[in-house]
Amino acid sequence: MQKLSSAQLLESLEWRYATKKFDPSKKIDVSTWNTLEKVLMLTPSSYGLQPWKFIIVESKELKEKLQTASWNQAQVTDCSHHVVFVIKEKMDEEHITKFIEQTAKIRGQDVSTLEGYKKMMIGDLVKGPRSEVISEWAARQAYIALGNFMTAAATLGVDTCPFEGIEPQKYDDILGLTGTGWKTVCACPAGYRAVDDKYAEALKVRFDAKDLIIHK
Ligand SMILES: Cc1cc2nc3c(=O)[nH]c(=O)nc-3n(C[C@H](O)[C@H](O)[C@H](O)COP(=O)(O)O)c2cc1C
Repeated sequence: MQKLSSAQLLESLEWRYATKKFDPSKKIDVSTWNTLEKVLMLTPSSYGLQPWKFIIVESKELKEKLQTASWNQAQVTDCSHHVVFVIKEKMDEEHITKFIEQTAKIRGQDVSTLEGYKKMMIGDLVKGPRSEVISEWAARQAYIALGNFMTAAATLGVDTCPFEGIEPQKYDDILGLTGTGWKTVCACPAGYRAVDDKYAEALKVRFDAKDLIIHK
């Protein structure tokens, strides 16, 4: 694996900012976008269960509808690709079985060797106390994907803006998710900053390292 230098990594992370104004004329090219889809898919999740879907919205009509459910934030319509992070509302045996079968297929194992792992996951997430708070669990996984996506995008020179300023129920209605067992948690427009987005030059506001990083 080729490593980025520390300077390159930090340069990307300093360059990234929550983009307020995208240039609507700039599209992310197919190859770069395919890489970013892979990034989403490579995000780690608890047990590896991937309780998510990533809905990629490029349609102008759909973006306009979603903007009305996003505090009218213009990034939705001006971006190149609007990513909606969707989670499974409840974990069920069907999803876990699908994951076990996929694991067995990819790793050339017999499903019977994964029976204990399957039972453990079902006991924890489907039948255990955590099943009561499973959508918060799933939302946490989705936020890992969001972070992964933004960092990777920045290293490729793609701008993003994490979005919680949305009405998830309206997103679900617009995207046809209501009643399917899947729901929206957050979103992230991606594209290229407008040259006159003044926020690009704003200094980053972070607490001092001594308040955030504790060495023991
Ligand atoms: C989970 C999350 C939700 C956010 N929601 C919005 C949003 O709806 N609209 C927006 O313009 N910025 C949003 N932000 C951007 C933050 O305000 C921004 O990341 C923060 O001020 C730090 O600035 P920086 O990202 O430019 O370094 C959100 C950030 C996070 C992490």
